[in-house]
Amino acid sequence: MTTTSPALDPEALTTTTLVHPATAEAQWWRSAVIYQVYPRSFADSDGDGLGDLPGITARLGHLTRLGVDALWLSPFYTSPQRDAGYDVADYRSVDPRFGTLADADALIEKAHRLGLRVIVDLVPNHTSSEHAWFQAALAAAPGSPERARYVFRDGKGPGGEQPPTNWRSVFGGPAWSRVTEADGRPGQWYLHLFDATQPDLNWENDEVRAELESVLRFWLDRGVDGFRVDVAHGLVKDQSFPDWGHRTDMVSGDDEDDAGHDPGPSPYWDQPGVHDIYRRWHQVLAGYDGDRCLVAEAWADTPEKIAAYTRPDEMQQAFNFDYLTTPWDATRLREAITDGLTASDAVGAPCTWVMSNHDVVRASSRLGLPETGKGPNGIGADDPQPDAELGLRRARAAALLMLALPGSAYLYQGEELGLPEHTTLPDEVREDPAFFRTGAAEKGRDGCRVPLPWEADAPAFGFSPTGATWLPQPADWGGFAVDAQKGVPGSTYETYRTALRLRRDFRLGTGSLAWVDGLPDCTAERVLAFTNRELLVLANLGAEAVALRDVEVLHASGPLGGGLDGEVLVPHDTTVWARLRRDDAERD
Ligand code: NOJ
Repeated sequence: MTTTSPALDPEALTTTTLVHPATAEAQWWRSAVIYQVYPRSFADSDGDGLGDLPGITARLGHLTRLGVDALWLSPFYTSPQRDAGYDVADYRSVDPRFGTLADADALIEKAHRLGLRVIVDLVPNHTSSEHAWFQAALAAAPGSPERARYVFRDGKGPGGEQPPTNWRSVFGGPAWSRVTEADGRPGQWYLHLFDATQPDLNWENDEVRAELESVLRFWLDRGVDGFRVDVAHGLVKDQSFPDWGHRTDMVSGDDEDDAGHDPGPSPYWDQPGVHDIYRRWHQVLAGYDGDRCLVAEAWADTPEKIAAYTRPDEMQQAFNFDYLTTPWDATRLREAITDGLTASDAVGAPCTWVMSNHDVVRASSRLGLPETGKGPNGIGADDPQPDAELGLRRARAAALLMLALPGSAYLYQGEELGLPEHTTLPDEVREDPAFFRTGAAEKGRDGCRVPLPWEADAPAFGFSPTGATWLPQPADWGGFAVDAQKGVPGSTYETYRTALRLRRDFRLGTGSLAWVDGLPDCTAERVLAFTNRELLVLANLGAEAVALRDVEVLHASGPLGGGLDGEVLVPHDTTVWARLRRDDAERD
């Protein structure tokens, strides 16, 4: 059954404008589409099964053909890879597994030549336990300047055998580990909000502040256009070190104790002092050419708290994960979009939109689960499996909705191919510390990190010349390969390309959103409809098709139907981009 709307009569619509058009269109980051490259899994040039910088450089054409503005590189620095590079042993060098500093320079240079900006990852909350500073801290005595760069404390109890607080690691287990002192006796404890191999730096320490500013300059001098700041909300800790025994869920930021109680304010997330650090960094970037940017990865519980990281004298962007974590529900998505835009608008910053990254189950699988939203922390062969067809259909609809929103959008590599999560990885190949620290209760993030398929008929689907891959690729990924989708009308890859071209042509990233209410039968429970510049964007999340009349369809996330009198039928879980009638556009 279908429902029919009359001609799109502007008088019959109620609109709410939420965002003033951006005034500074020249600032590229306000509207950029930024593609996340996960170096381990993008392209492997030397055949060892792990991606590398020359592999990325060789494949940059994929990004320009796709039509993105920038790439963000997850960490490629020297690291023992205990958390896939988010455990940095030396911030100023490239891990030999990924290449050399010269390779990084070549990548930046080629990207710029192709018109792509480059953002690199900065991990300031913690170092690797193999960082020279931590090794020096282990060798030094309690109370020494070497230990003062990290968060060392004496334990509780008569022999100091209890950790200083009950804080819990994001990856599971306690957030403190005890060291053995030089005399061979059990000694102090150090804090690690993540893995035990990721000791937290002490941001009360001036040397730490100076060092990370120097690292910023090191990469700015090499020409990078910005930094994605890892765990930006975690650097400053409440110096009274109160107990707070809750485990925080990555990305959603939800805090839980075993009884599901409201945890109250955290002593280490989103402390007011973090903002002083970013005001300083703002100045560091301003010393360059005024066009560099910082993007905060911060998990906070309201859009206003996230937007606080993007006040005019702080960062340029912060990830707004609400689009990713909100269930596939028209009313709730509209609320999330409205709240995100309103909060960022209030501080004059662009809103950001994210559907996927290297920490969550891929969107095309997540959206095929009975319960949508942030999804589980990994999926294994024994878990309920997603409905792949429904998930992909919804992911494409979600992508077209997202790419029509004003602000900046992030794509995670493979998203443009509709790549699903690897949901049946054997436990023996898993590397995510969350898998190990939860005693395998959580499968972890490896399933979204599997090497990309480039060519349907090549070894490792073209990821590596030898066929080696650090994680196995599902045997049926040939159909997702870039060469299998290129030039194929309606493929996910071509759907993204067209969307990015239209987004650019219509300057949607710097537009202004107005919700369209009043289309008959397009109730807010089923349909999201808005205009941005001359486009009408309609996403049908309901179970039944919706009919539109008197619109010129420019793009759709999937096949549309045709009805009587030129009606366009928008089926369930489908987004359509249409051109408003000329007189509508002039009113806008
Ligand atoms: C957030 C990163 O995205 C994630 O991959 C990493 O494990 C943690 N921060 C710790 O650095």
